[in-house]
Amino acid sequence: MKLIDGKVISGYVKDRVKEEVSALKEQGVTTGLAVIIVGEDPASKVYVNNKKKACEALGIISEEYALSENTTQEELLALIDELNKKPTINGILCQLPLPRHLDEQAVINAIDPQKDVDAFHPQNVGKIMQGDYDFVPCTPAGIMEMLKYENIEIEGKTCVVIGRSNIVGKPMGMLLLHKNGTVTICHSRTKNLKEICRGADILVAAVGRPNFVTADMVKEGAVVIDVGINRVHNKLVGDVDFEAVKDKCEAITPVPGGVGPMTIAMLMQNTLTAAKKQNNR
Ligand code: GUN
Repeated sequence: MKLIDGKVISGYVKDRVKEEVSALKEQGVTTGLAVIIVGEDPASKVYVNNKKKACEALGIISEEYALSENTTQEELLALIDELNKKPTINGILCQLPLPRHLDEQAVINAIDPQKDVDAFHPQNVGKIMQGDYDFVPCTPAGIMEMLKYENIEIEGKTCVVIGRSNIVGKPMGMLLLHKNGTVTICHSRTKNLKEICRGADILVAAVGRPNFVTADMVKEGAVVIDVGINRVHNKLVGDVDFEAVKDKCEAITPVPGGVGPMTIAMLMQNTLTAAKKQNNR
């Protein structure tokens, strides 16, 4: 079994980004990311803080907008409008989920597609469907980067994604399809989930339930990618029963230290891409 080390691979991505950010700066072009967080969700606060720290380490200017739980839709849209117009801000990320009284899709739609470093705007989602894109949602992009780094072939392989979210499952399926994988997306209504997963050469688990993927769901020699970040007894665990699955597979990502660090590295990469595009580089 090979452990796919997200810390190492994200380090390479971040080094690459850092060099380019610095080269742009020498030409007088800065790179800036605005991160908006609404409310007090503790997990979101941790993620936003990690994004801010990554920016600082790579020379990317970061602006955090921490808004109160009872921010109105109008106030949030007004902030986005302001950031859309702000030349020093190249990327805008609004941390999800938003408090329930806010219309998440309307907020996503308000972000300038050229600054949409999450690639959640319908225009960017559409481009991903067409296979011609600048921004890719950070988590699927990070997974593709890991597969590439490990020389894991996708063409012709049976790829099974568990989870159909707009953030991970759906774009993940599309990226694997663009690399000529044969893709199945499973979800809570899927029948024969175990049998379908057992057929996977590449299995991506994005369910959000601890230890959901058990050894009997994994084919001997499969590549297993664990997107889950679940807190159990104050410990982080993935969606895969790592101890039971690890000896069956060819390669597997750990939690923590797998997909998580990749997601942030790809956000940095998307922010750099935005800065380059906006400055015609
Ligand atoms: N919440 C969980 N993952 C993400 C992400 O990738 N982007 C944003 N904006 N919110 C998230």
